Amino acid sequence: MKKDFTGRDIISIKDFSKTDIEHVINAAKQMVPVATGARKTNLLNGKILATLFFEPSTRTRLSFESAMNRLGGRIIGFATSKATSTEKGETLADTIKMADAYSDVIVLRHPNEGASRLASEFSSKPVINAGDGAGQHPTQTLLDLFTIKTEKKRIKRNNIVIVGDLKYGRTVHSLTYALSMFNATMTFIAPQTLQMPDEILSDLKEKGIDFTLTNNLESAIPDADVLYITRIQKERFPDPEEYAKVSGIYRINPDMLSNAKKDMIIMHPLPRIDEIAPEVDKTRHALYFKQAFNGVPVRMALLALVLGARR
Ligand code: CP
Repeated sequence: MKKDFTGRDIISIKDFSKTDIEHVINAAKQMVPVATGARKTNLLNGKILATLFFEPSTRTRLSFESAMNRLGGRIIGFATSKATSTEKGETLADTIKMADAYSDVIVLRHPNEGASRLASEFSSKPVINAGDGAGQHPTQTLLDLFTIKTEKKRIKRNNIVIVGDLKYGRTVHSLTYALSMFNATMTFIAPQTLQMPDEILSDLKEKGIDFTLTNNLESAIPDADVLYITRIQKERFPDPEEYAKVSGIYRINPDMLSNAKKDMIIMHPLPRIDEIAPEVDKTRHALYFKQAFNGVPVRMALLALVLGARR
C-alpha cells in the first residue's frame, strides 16, 4: 500500500509497509484535537460511512461512528444482522453491493475469516476490516501502535509481552505482524492450547524476529515495557469443555505489578472479562481506556485517507 491511500481497502496489516503505518500514526496525531471536540472540521462533509456489523461491538463501531461524525460526515448501517435481509438468506456479496450503492466507505465486522477481503471484491468503495473471525483486526492494531508510540515515544526496542488467547485473538495476530516490522521484542504467554498459531511463528522465524513462548505470566512482568492482555475468546471455541479448561487462567491484580517497571503500560483491546482486576484501573500502569479512546483519531485518519480528503 502506497502513502496515497485514496480508494484503498484496509483488510490486513500485512498489506501495510512500515512507512504506511508511520503515515497513519502521524495523521492520527493531527486528528487528536478534533477527536476530543476541541477543534471542529467539516473535512468529510457530504460523505457517508456504512457500518455493517454482523458481530457485536462497542468500541470499533462507536469509535468509527464518532470519527465520522467528528469529521462532518454521515453514517448508515446496522449493529446486528438480525435486522437485515441476511435473515431472509441474502448473501454477503449482495449486502455489500447495496452498501456500495448507498455509501462512500464501508466498515465491516463479520464472524468469517476472509469476509472483508471477499467484500472488497464486490465493492467499488473502500472496505475497512473491523474484524473478520479469528483473522485480522487492522484498525485495532493501528490504534495499538499509535498508543505505544504516544506513550513510549517509540515502538522499536520495547519488550512487548502479549498474554491470553493468542490462538483465536485476531487483535494479537495483527499486532504481532505489525510489531515484527518495528524490531520490538515479543514474549507470547498462553496455555499451550492457545499459543500463537504456527503459521505466524513461522513467519516471524523467516523474518529473523526473536520471540519467547511461555505460559508463565508473573515471571515476564518485571522486564515488560508493554503488557498486552487479551480475553479468552469464548465464542470461537468449538467445545465448551475446552473453554472451561482455560477460562480465567490469567488475571492481573495490583500485587502482581509490584515488580513492574514504573513506566510499564498495560494495554487490552477490550472488552475485558476477568483478565484485569478492576483495582488495576487506578494504577499508573492502566492504559486500556485511553487506548480505546485512541481508536477515534486513528479511525478519523483512516477515513480521511481512504476518502482522499485534503485539508
Ligand atoms: N477492541 C474491540 O474490537 O472492541 P469491540 O469488540 O467492542 O469493538
